[in-house]
Amino acid sequence: MKKYNIFAGNFGSGKTEISVNTALFGAKKKSLEGKHFIVTAGATIEPIDPVRFISNHSSGKMGYAVAEALAARGAKVTLVSGRTSLECPQGVEKVDVLSAEQMYEACNAVFEQTDGAVMCAAVADYTPQTVADEKLKKGDGDMSIALKRTKDIAASLGEKKGSRVLVGFAMETQNERENAQSKLERKNFDFIVLNSLRTEGAGFRGDTNVVTLIDMKGAEELPLMSKRDVAERIVDKIES
Ligand code: CTP
Repeated sequence: MKKYNIFAGNFGSGKTEISVNTALFGAKKKSLEGKHFIVTAGATIEPIDPVRFISNHSSGKMGYAVAEALAARGAKVTLVSGRTSLECPQGVEKVDVLSAEQMYEACNAVFEQTDGAVMCAAVADYTPQTVADEKLKKGDGDMSIALKRTKDIAASLGEKKGSRVLVGFAMETQNERENAQSKLERKNFDFIVLNSLRTEGAGFRGDTNVVTLIDMKGAEELPLMSKRDVAERIVDKIES
């Protein structure tokens, strides 16, 4: 950061020194001041017993970048976070959850007071029917675990969204456009961010992503870019 000293005044008066912080010139305008968004991020964890669980590879990077980008534009952000190893971005309020059920409760508790939600979390679609109180001991044969469906958090918000903005993600490995389009409609999203695991530079752990933004009017393919830049583009689209 550079500091310039600017001298202001008029003839005959003493000099007034104003120190101008040039970092402020680069700061984004606070275009979302007064707005409140939920961002879900990371992987949910569905316990099997006290030592084991079902989860997925989500790192939470995309969701945390979206939360950071919204906060940088002045929005209040409630980051409902499953498991990640990331630090909470500055100015963001984080609610830690483990299971899909807990994420559902946390989102539904605040959604009505918000202006919208960005659903970046990788939520388990199934959870064990029962959670064992004690560590399960192995037997000689194979075993299977009975699973039941979790609640669809995005769809539940979609049902009561009114004029709020609702943004979804779709991580696909085949029939990408078709699947994303169907999720857009089914969950009542304003737009959906499609990433394909088949594309190099896209996906879970890396710092880059290749996404297509799809709404009811069409699709916009973005080139390979950092997750932070993807987050900025998502927030631009929310604003527009
Ligand atoms: N989502 C959610 N709650 C769930 C499942 C998904 O809120 N129980 C959200 C995700 O955060 C994402 C969108 O819905 O924004 C699509 O998630 P995805 O896992 O791709 O789709 P599913 O609906 O789970 O469909 P499928 O597993 O059949 O692809």
